[in-house]
Amino acid sequence: MSKITIATLKAMKQAGDRFACLTAYDAIFAQIIDEAGVEVLLVGDSLSMVIQGHESTLPVTLDEMIYHTKAVSRGAVNALVMADMPFMSYNTEVQAVESAGRLMKEGRAHIVKLEGGRALVNTIKQLTSFGIPVCAHLGLQPQSVHKLGGYKVQGRDKYSAKIILEDALALEKAGADMVLLECVPMLLAEEITLALDVPVIGIGAGPHCNGQVLVLQDMLGITPGKQPRFTQNFLQGSNGIQAAIAAYAQAIKEGDFPSKQQSFTS
Ligand code: KIV
Repeated sequence: MSKITIATLKAMKQAGDRFACLTAYDAIFAQIIDEAGVEVLLVGDSLSMVIQGHESTLPVTLDEMIYHTKAVSRGAVNALVMADMPFMSYNTEVQAVESAGRLMKEGRAHIVKLEGGRALVNTIKQLTSFGIPVCAHLGLQPQSVHKLGGYKVQGRDKYSAKIILEDALALEKAGADMVLLECVPMLLAEEITLALDVPVIGIGAGPHCNGQVLVLQDMLGITPGKQPRFTQNFLQGSNGIQAAIAAYAQAIKEGDFPSKQQSFTS
């Protein structure tokens, strides 16, 4: 695999090729995931839960995100490193530029991801004007879990589905280079993927997105408790962690993951 850039992912979308994304929080896993052919390493704010043991993604700080992004960037060879902007690190356009700038300058991230819809149009315009690539996270936004009242599928009715589609179009127009859709019905994700020129990554968003992402620990089947329907334990039946991650990447590229049964139909 040669160096993956945003242009690579856009070209893959145009060619109809799917790509893989997986969360990474440290250098060794970053290296293993990169070697397995996963195109995008996401330093997700999910590290607040899976690494730090918090009950949500809200407590992780910008300094902690930078610490983990640095580690992942040292392990990554060819993959694109995407870092999450943590809760309360992009409340104003100025703060967003400062936070994203630190994730890129100190953490060596290639792209930042933030959660929110059309309210972020000016923030995204500002970030892109400084040459900072952005992925807009739509659908279920875990940083808003208390407002949403839980981790629930979004866009189930006509009205909310229209809002998500309009948000995606507005954020692409504002300069977003990628969109991530979390927990939305698969037909809505398909509609958005077709409507946008930029690549769309899905999690719990069905098989029609251009790329797929999972949390590493879910994909290895080591997260305690009930697993959401959109995850799969790739370690089961694989000959070790490296083989499991390679199987994950291959299943995405061949269109075998996620299946329709692992997706939300409404
Ligand atoms: O933080 C994270 O790991 C994420 C994924 C769930 C998409 O944003």
